Amino acid sequence: MAIEKILITGAAGYLAQFIIERLHTTYTLTLTDIVEPDRKYDGTTFIKADVTELSEIEAACAEHDAVVHLVALVRERHGKPLSLYAEVMVKGTWNVAEACVRQGVKKLVNISSISACPPAPETQLPYQVGNKFQFGGGDLYYSLSKYLGEQIGLAYHQAHGLKVIHVRPGVIDGDGLNPGPSAPDVVTEPWFVYVDPRDVAQCIECVIKNSDVNYGAYNAVAGRKDSRYDWKQAEKDIGYSPEYNWKEIPDME
Ligand SMILES: NC(=O)c1ccc[n+]([C@@H]2O[C@H](COP(=O)([O-])OP(=O)(O)OC[C@H]3O[C@@H](n4cnc5c(N)ncnc54)[C@H](O)[C@@H]3O)[C@@H](O)[C@H]2O)c1
Repeated sequence: MAIEKILITGAAGYLAQFIIERLHTTYTLTLTDIVEPDRKYDGTTFIKADVTELSEIEAACAEHDAVVHLVALVRERHGKPLSLYAEVMVKGTWNVAEACVRQGVKKLVNISSISACPPAPETQLPYQVGNKFQFGGGDLYYSLSKYLGEQIGLAYHQAHGLKVIHVRPGVIDGDGLNPGPSAPDVVTEPWFVYVDPRDVAQCIECVIKNSDVNYGAYNAVAGRKDSRYDWKQAEKDIGYSPEYNWKEIPDME
């Protein structure tokens, strides 16, 4: 069944605007968040819903073919208590998956992160999805919440046949949080972790259009030789073709 109607959670956030911009002329979009987006887009509808409340997100999911789930603690997350990560990111994602199944949504595009599975020290780079990973102390609540969000998606795929694709963006440029890439003085291994939000939006559109992959995870990072995270699998499986690759910063040889 072709996807026509899509619900976007976290629609007032930074990344969402690029996704809405890319998708709103092709698909019927419903936007949901706890705050209304500043910008208005033709043909979109807004529903206020809190992902921590199952009944609210379930009502928002009704009659949609797909959900793009973006809600997370992102800006100013550091220092927030464990309970808030568990509530918004883990329970919130669980509620979204449950709501999808209850309302007959066919595909969940879960916006995860390269932080979900930090490469283990001995792992060969660029890091491929499925390679060995190891959590570190910095930003553990966020990383672990992203990992658990992916596990929830896997469980709902296995138990209910919900199509679930996790998109793992790199560090997103221009979000007011990240300083932007600058090459280290001495380069000894693939280091580039950034992605342009327009390429993340392209990756999400590739996932929505693809009808072959029923479950998977893809890194959405810049298409560079020195990317720390592999993007070629996404190119091969779903046709991701990153366009904004910081050509002014030379690739490592
Ligand atoms: N910014 C980055 O560098 C980066 C990198 C990798 C992955 N990501 C992921 O991309 C996604 C979007 O990130 P962003 O930078 O746009 O973040 P953002 O903070 O701009 O957007 C998050 C949105 O979620 C909404 N929200 C928060 N709690 C909610 C709740 N309980 N119910 C409903 N809505 C709620 C907020 O109002 C906000 O609009 C997140 O899942 C994030 O983890 C971001």
